[in-house]
Amino acid sequence: MNGSQNLCETFSEQLRDVPDIDIWVAPPFIYVPALTEAERLQGFTQIGVQNVHEEVQGAFTGEVSAAMVAEMGAKFAIIGHSERRNIYLENDTIVDRKLKSCVDANLIPLFCVGESIEERQNGSAEAVVQRQLRSLKGLLETLPAERLVVAYEPIWAIGTGISASPGDADEMHGKIRSYLGDEGAKLRILYGGSVSPNNAEKLIKQTNIDGFLVGGAALDVSAFNEICQLVGGD
Ligand code: PGA
Repeated sequence: MNGSQNLCETFSEQLRDVPDIDIWVAPPFIYVPALTEAERLQGFTQIGVQNVHEEVQGAFTGEVSAAMVAEMGAKFAIIGHSERRNIYLENDTIVDRKLKSCVDANLIPLFCVGESIEERQNGSAEAVVQRQLRSLKGLLETLPAERLVVAYEPIWAIGTGISASPGDADEMHGKIRSYLGDEGAKLRILYGGSVSPNNAEKLIKQTNIDGFLVGGAALDVSAFNEICQLVGGD
């Protein structure tokens, strides 16, 4: 719930064309048409959303379904962001139903996992991430890896300015990949949590980090451009 129409306009005017990387942008729902229709972004960005409701349709006042966002031109949906899990109490069952509703609507789920600081300190980070990934692992038996994206976002790194170290992030990405089996090798696994122009270069050089889920730095178009350039230059 950040940004404005003005930011969307600035974003579409000032985002530089970086043809050798995929740039996906997930604005708040109401700005989706402005970005899908922005000619300047066509050809090198995909537009998505930050959440969908788990049901297909019905009396769920104020909610938005995966089919609705697909109809408006969105190509992907972020599912299971830690703010949704923690503030809106979306447990694994709800997140898994959202995952299914995205697949049914032909949206690519960008599926977020990550542990809290307590879970990291008590040694349960890997178990927590595996529990969150269980349904996605099942889906990989029938869905090609290019129709799914995973984002590892340790909760303690989101919006705090404290990113996971490149080594720690890479280690967890490697564990996620091996947990997901053969298809996991082909899956894009993004890192999220205080990604900035200062740490992007070191993080992207890690073997198992395929890209980023950028929050705060994406609200500053020049910082976002810089991250894109660093990733593209890898
Ligand atoms: P951040 O946010 O980059 O500001 O830490 C990441 C996120 O919200 O997914």
